[in-house]
Amino acid sequence: MVTGGAGFIGSHVIRTLINNHPDYRIVNVDKLTYAGNLENLRDVENASGYRFERADICDYNRICEIIDHYSIDGIIHLAAESHVDRSIVDPFTFAHTNVMGTLSLLQAARTRWEALPDGYNGKTFYHISTDEVYGALPADGGFFTEETPYSPHSPYSASKASSDHFVRAYHDTYGMPCIITNCSNNYGPNQFPEKLIPLFINNILHHRPLPVYGAGLNVRDWLYVEDHARAIDLVFHNGRAGATYNIGGFNEWRNIDLVRLLVKVTDRLLGRPEGDSLPLITFVTDRKGHDLRYAIDSTLLSRELGWTPSLQFEEGLEKTVRWYLDNPEWVGNVTSGEYQKYYETMYGSRKNL
Ligand code: NAD
Ligand code: DAU
Repeated sequence: MVTGGAGFIGSHVIRTLINNHPDYRIVNVDKLTYAGNLENLRDVENASGYRFERADICDYNRICEIIDHYSIDGIIHLAAESHVDRSIVDPFTFAHTNVMGTLSLLQAARTRWEALPDGYNGKTFYHISTDEVYGALPADGGFFTEETPYSPHSPYSASKASSDHFVRAYHDTYGMPCIITNCSNNYGPNQFPEKLIPLFINNILHHRPLPVYGAGLNVRDWLYVEDHARAIDLVFHNGRAGATYNIGGFNEWRNIDLVRLLVKVTDRLLGRPEGDSLPLITFVTDRKGHDLRYAIDSTLLSRELGWTPSLQFEEGLEKTVRWYLDNPEWVGNVTSGEYQKYYETMYGSRKNL
């Protein structure tokens, strides 16, 4: 079971699993919020082992039914509210989905798996989390390691930190085989255009302002989404139960430098003179509680499981810009709610179970 498989990272995870393990039965459990989009999976939706279930992870009984029906033996949990700015406006939704939803999923897995003759044997509950739980680093150095104490600042990171604690509690209390990974900022195709990179590509395309928060000096560590999906496949199969692994690209960028590079790449691919869109950069009021710097040390994952990122940043950024410029209908649909109609056409109101 993959939760949140219709979202940005989840759809890349499902594609990676289908490609790497064509014999698997994979059930995508997604509520299809504004961020969930089945169009992300069009190329794989007819794969023989793939099924979609529209369900809310907070719906404990429904999740129990799905686990029983498909004899689920592994869960990769990505479903969440994921956008920091939204969490500042609407923290309740974040606590509900990210904390109570994760708890409901843990409890459903526990009760179903403990009732089986072989119990937890061969089972895995894998929770996908974020580097934001560690708080913020100073501008002049240091990395988040797996030992860094939690210090979340935004409602989003507080909700993710809380869900991580519940996952560890289920491992420590009930012996459930749980794994957690904490990853840095992802970028790539299919990311909802509210996050920095896709929002700015779309704005450059339409000659709209590029709203850089504060002075643009905040630092993020960027990883191409397919590298993250590959790490998730590896950890799901080879990670130690009870372990936490950090995932990151050793690829830090100040926002303003990243935006200037993005302008350069996008202008070039649009055939505009280099730097044509630089005047669109507009410094706006800073995000409340804006964490200064994130930087992940992923040495443990490299050492234990041999994972390293494969793409250089400029290469990944160019692939991403190309994808957005080649897929204007996708951007139009996700921002207009068209994909909800697609869902109704494909699945109607039928329950898939
Ligand atoms: P996203 O917002 O693109 O997708 C989230 C998906 O979860 C959507 O398909 C949505 O419909 C689904 N969902 C939301 N609430 C649900 C519910 N109650 N029940 C079932 N499905 C529900 O998110 P993303 O960027 O792909 O992030 C996926 C996961 O990875 C999240 O847990 C996030 O915290 C984590 N993460 C993201 C990043 C990043 O840079 N995007 C980095 C590290 C970790
Ligand atoms: O670090 C991992 C996290 O990365 C994930 O857990 C989150 O789900 C994901 O959304 C992302 O969080 P960020 O807040 O870092 O991503 P976002 O794209 O929103 O912002 C990246 C940086 O750019 C951040 O410093 C805020 C800044 N920013 C963002 C937007 C949307 C701007 O300056 N202007 C903007 O309009």
